[in-house]
Amino acid sequence: MNWNAQLYDGKHRFVSEFGQDVVKLLAPSAEERILDIGCGTGDLASALFHEGVHAVGVDQSASMIDEAKQKYPDVPFFVRDAHDLQYEEEFDAVFSNAAIHWMKQPDHVLKSIWKSLKPGGRFVAEFGGKGNVAFISQAIIHQIDGYDTSTYPWYFPSIGEYTSLMEQTGFHVSFAEHFERPTRLDGVDGMRNWIKMFGDVVMGEQTPGEKERITNGAVNELKEVCFNGDHWIADYWRIRVAGIKK
Ligand code: BEZ
Repeated sequence: MNWNAQLYDGKHRFVSEFGQDVVKLLAPSAEERILDIGCGTGDLASALFHEGVHAVGVDQSASMIDEAKQKYPDVPFFVRDAHDLQYEEEFDAVFSNAAIHWMKQPDHVLKSIWKSLKPGGRFVAEFGGKGNVAFISQAIIHQIDGYDTSTYPWYFPSIGEYTSLMEQTGFHVSFAEHFERPTRLDGVDGMRNWIKMFGDVVMGEQTPGEKERITNGAVNELKEVCFNGDHWIADYWRIRVAGIKK
């Protein structure tokens, strides 16, 4: 995925703003070594760093990491794939906000997190759960004849599925929650902007003209279910989990 880091920061700041809740669950202490996976443009890793945490941010997207380094030159950021982090018992905690649903092999990701943690270390994450952006996804898919569902880009597990995977990896699951969080999208073009930033990847290899047609059709269909007469609302469902490396 080729991210537009400026559009992400300009119109989708709510991603890191909502991340404050998962940071509370993380309960970081100064001097801890904490890894932020899928750190995007680095806001949460930087906030931790400036609280005295030895924070490190990693993301698979080079454009996100470039932007993070420019915004926060003191904080260590690296391009890394969370499926294979290549750390060995280095961190007191690994955390992640709004990123794990992009990682399609969750068992590999969990093993990689496990290896990165010191014994007794904790894993705390929030990401899209079962039902997340279902209206938006369906509206896009309705516009595409013969959509191949195996190309769907996101992983939105149920809480049972994800906590079972955590246990199979060896985590003691200390917290798990699956909740609805309708998310306001600002402006009359809020849904169009969301689809431009994130929905494009559902459309795959369509021409720019086709993508425009699909977006128009989807926005039109979504007026019924995601527009309340004043603003657009994305149908977000979150999973929030915490686990300890036994
Ligand atoms: C989410 O945060 O739930 C999300 C963001 C982008 C694409 C899909 C889901």
